[in-house]
Amino acid sequence: MKAKLTYLLFFIAFSLTLLAVYLVLRYFGYITVQNRRQPLEIISDMDHQNKLKADFIPYDEEGKVRDVRLNPNAIPLEDAFYPLLPYEIEKAENLEINEIPADSFMLKRGELLFRRFCVPCHGLDGRGNGPIVTKVQLSEEEEGFPPPKDLSSEGTKMLSNKRLFHILGAGQNLMFPFHSQLTYFDKWSLIHYIRKLQNDKK
Ligand code: HEC
Repeated sequence: MKAKLTYLLFFIAFSLTLLAVYLVLRYFGYITVQNRRQPLEIISDMDHQNKLKADFIPYDEEGKVRDVRLNPNAIPLEDAFYPLLPYEIEKAENLEINEIPADSFMLKRGELLFRRFCVPCHGLDGRGNGPIVTKVQLSEEEEGFPPPKDLSSEGTKMLSNKRLFHILGAGQNLMFPFHSQLTYFDKWSLIHYIRKLQNDKK
């Protein structure tokens, strides 16, 4: 009888010790428990929605709301997919889209976006000498990434704003599309910034 009780007490003490060790390890992060189940779905498919574009700022420098009213005839270009394919240049030139005019706020935003998304290939001054071109050599024999066209060249200067808009939306050859990363406003900011690079070229 006494031996039985001792065993029982020992067993309980041992289990409690194990539990305590587990809780301490878990508390200090040595053990993590992952919950592989999806979070509660209130609306079906709710975690696959278009992302919120949090850094779209519809204000100008003085804090006034910008006038970005859409032309009622324009097709919606903020959709999940850009409606044209890269080679549909003629269609792009005839698209009815609303140009958002440049101001210093847009140029600043364009510069920030250019540094974030375009400099790796196009370089700080847009001449096509970004680090992907100059620094990434895949192997001795490989030539690496071919330098993109100089954005301040006469050739790119000649392209219309709509064409630049189209290139950002649909991509062009080795350049992939940026439609899902850039809002309508962001694309216009970048276009104005490219024009600035072209005008600043000495
Ligand atoms: C992965 C590298 C890469 C990134 C990132 C990139 N580009 Fe490009 N871009 C290219 C290449 C390569 C070309 C040349 C495509 C071709 O052969 O027609 C190009 C072409 C262009 C052209 C057309 C130039 C012309 O005269 O035909 C524009 C405009 C342009 N890029 C703007 C941008 C902007 C704005 C960004 C940032 C949002 C950007 N690119 C990001 C690689 C890139």
